[in-house]
Amino acid sequence: MFIQIPRGTYDVLPDQSPVWQKIEETARAVCDLFNYKEIRTPLFESTDLFQRGVGDTTDIVQKEMYNFKDRGDRNLTLRPEGTASVVRSFVEHKLYGLPDQPTKLYYIGPMFRYERPQSGRTRQFTQFGVEALGSADPSIDAEVIALALTFYQRLGLKHLKLVLNSLGDPETRAAHRKALIAHFKPSIGEFCEDCQRRLEKNPLRILDCKKDHDHPLMATAPSIIDYLTDSAAAYFENVKAMLDEMGITYELDPTLVRGLDYYNHTTFEIMGSSKGAISTLAGGGRYNGLVSELGGPETAGVGFALSIERLLLALDVEDISLVGPASLDCYLAAIGGHAEAKVPALLNELRKAGLRADKDYMDRKVKAQFRQADREHAKFVVVIGDDELAHQEASVKKMADGSQETVSFSKLPDYIKSKLTD
Ligand code: HAM
Repeated sequence: MFIQIPRGTYDVLPDQSPVWQKIEETARAVCDLFNYKEIRTPLFESTDLFQRGVGDTTDIVQKEMYNFKDRGDRNLTLRPEGTASVVRSFVEHKLYGLPDQPTKLYYIGPMFRYERPQSGRTRQFTQFGVEALGSADPSIDAEVIALALTFYQRLGLKHLKLVLNSLGDPETRAAHRKALIAHFKPSIGEFCEDCQRRLEKNPLRILDCKKDHDHPLMATAPSIIDYLTDSAAAYFENVKAMLDEMGITYELDPTLVRGLDYYNHTTFEIMGSSKGAISTLAGGGRYNGLVSELGGPETAGVGFALSIERLLLALDVEDISLVGPASLDCYLAAIGGHAEAKVPALLNELRKAGLRADKDYMDRKVKAQFRQADREHAKFVVVIGDDELAHQEASVKKMADGSQETVSFSKLPDYIKSKLTD
């Protein structure tokens, strides 16, 4: 029976995995530069965590979560994002009590959302994200933005646009909420059912509605920027000033409200060039109430996440290839049964010496073994026949120029190593 991969998922095949490894390596290297440490949390969590953390009225919680019951009748969810899990872990392990604050963390791993699959939108996707917990200093907002941009730039992306907004503090939100209700209420009948529900529960979400996006009342909706309290406005000015100092350019977009409920103060997205409809590469912001919402002490937080899937699309559009073809240091070709019997031990010695080496396993003739060595971009081919075996030596061919030398078995690893660095 032929069983297909689930809709919205994909395999990373061996010819693609070096690209993924390069991206992950770059993410780790950049986090190391910025002094962020890795955290790994489970792929599933209690459903409650996301209902509370991400927000009951968000699309993620309402429509997109992979919920299931385990055999112990527990309500569990495949994580749709990383922030709630990181905060849960921060609270559960009392990381806030450690002396080195803020706690600067990063993660790379799969997330799951039941969305309509399209280019740049899959049901399992891989996020690289960072979270800085324990400091409300505006320089951390600027730092996480700089980290994301440094990561993209290291990979060679040039067409990046940073879009910035502030959602202010709770006072800002309360005043803006009132204004939004007054604005939408008289005509709410013209909006979708979701928006009608959102009106009283969480009117900010109306601004993020995909269905009613083009309704004329959207464009004239009260802008949160006009409701920032003095201190929220001053905070935002500070973040912007630090970005200016760092030479990071940005666009302000007062409609950037993000799809998760935990944000306040700074929110941002990074857009890239894209072939399809989706150009958002990364999103993040500040979430000062989330730690206490999830049972911890009042603690500030800020972070972002990006997906490798969308990054790959952007790399493709900008025509950037991250890795060249992989090559073997040497390929061992055997002629005849006696030589074949000797090859595995020699191969093992070469590998133990740190050389990338392989041999034939398909009973190929010598010519075909050389062709195989070529396909593997082998730098050297080591040939062992009966004659060579009798003298405990091999003939080593340098593939770049065809030159050949005879080398004793015991000296093979050192010989190839010295020639590789020539
Ligand atoms: P988000 O905007 O929901 O935020 O997702 C962040 C990024 O994940 C998006 O910009 C996009 O690159 C990627 N992404 C989301 N859904 C999909 C999908 N279905 N397929 C492919 N890529 C996708 C968050 O998840 C927040 N936790 C970010 C954050 C961290 N805020 C503060 N800290």
